[in-house]
Amino acid sequence: LNVIVLAGGISHERDVSLRSGRRVADALTAAGHHVTMRDPDAGLLPYLAEFKPDVVFPALHGSSGEDGSLFDLLAALGISFVGSTGAAAREAWWKPGASSIVARSGIVVPESVVLSHESFRELGAPSVLRVVRRGLEGDLVVKPGSGGSAQGVSIVADPQELPRSMVEAFVYDDTAIVERRIFGTEVAVTVVDTGDGPVALPAVEIVPVDGVYSFQARYTAGETTFYAPSRLPAEQADAVARAAVTAHDALGLRDLSRIDFIVDESGTPWFLEANVIPGLTETSLVPLAIEAAGRTQAEVYDGLVRAAAA
Ligand code: DAL
Ligand code: MG
Repeated sequence: LNVIVLAGGISHERDVSLRSGRRVADALTAAGHHVTMRDPDAGLLPYLAEFKPDVVFPALHGSSGEDGSLFDLLAALGISFVGSTGAAAREAWWKPGASSIVARSGIVVPESVVLSHESFRELGAPSVLRVVRRGLEGDLVVKPGSGGSAQGVSIVADPQELPRSMVEAFVYDDTAIVERRIFGTEVAVTVVDTGDGPVALPAVEIVPVDGVYSFQARYTAGETTFYAPSRLPAEQADAVARAAVTAHDALGLRDLSRIDFIVDESGTPWFLEANVIPGLTETSLVPLAIEAAGRTQAEVYDGLVRAAAA
């Protein structure tokens, strides 16, 4: 097949996307496809119209791809692509909305307070602290309403640090989510659907060397220890796999996603977020899950492009 891998873009995750795209392009080339890598600049539409690829594989993280607008564009052009519909991607990309949808499907999500930048400014730091404390106890996690790779995310143990952490989140989005920190085992579950329905690959357990899965811990080799498959007892591993497929379905996602959870002491998986275009770099979780499933990236990405083209 003629495949265009889209990578780069103008989101905060541009560099990560270029690394993901390169890996996908190599794997698809190894699988025998004719692959071109392309940055989605202003010339993209005429290029696609002329080149008429059989399939587009968007490896675009962040707003360049995961907010769904590019998927809408590809659909409007009648071009087959690997990934979700624009509408589903948008729902998953907006974390507060995604959490409520997933919660309605019976999966637990951390309690949270969501505040816009505007209300943050109007209320002022002392009132913000009061509002948050009325709803949430203990350690907190602050994150932007949308975004990836842990950019703008902080763990807050000292409430006095909350306003500064929220300002950091506002760099990435007009909304900040403050949620109760769940303690337990952090795992990421890759969901793949190559035409026979969504299947969860083995959960990958994440143990960052310094305790927090930050941007640096994500993309620097050796900064995080991964267990693929996770060390969770079989029953908990099954439960988190089921929860991942439920979340993927509840959000109406297609083809490939990665659903992140914390499994607490009692074995309950808490939904953290869904990734519409998960990282596919050499230090990313999806490739580890593929290996743990005894499969190769070439095989899985080949299955995805074939299913999309069919
Ligand atoms: N947002 C990054 C790419 C991830 O989900 O892996
Ligand atoms: Mg993410």
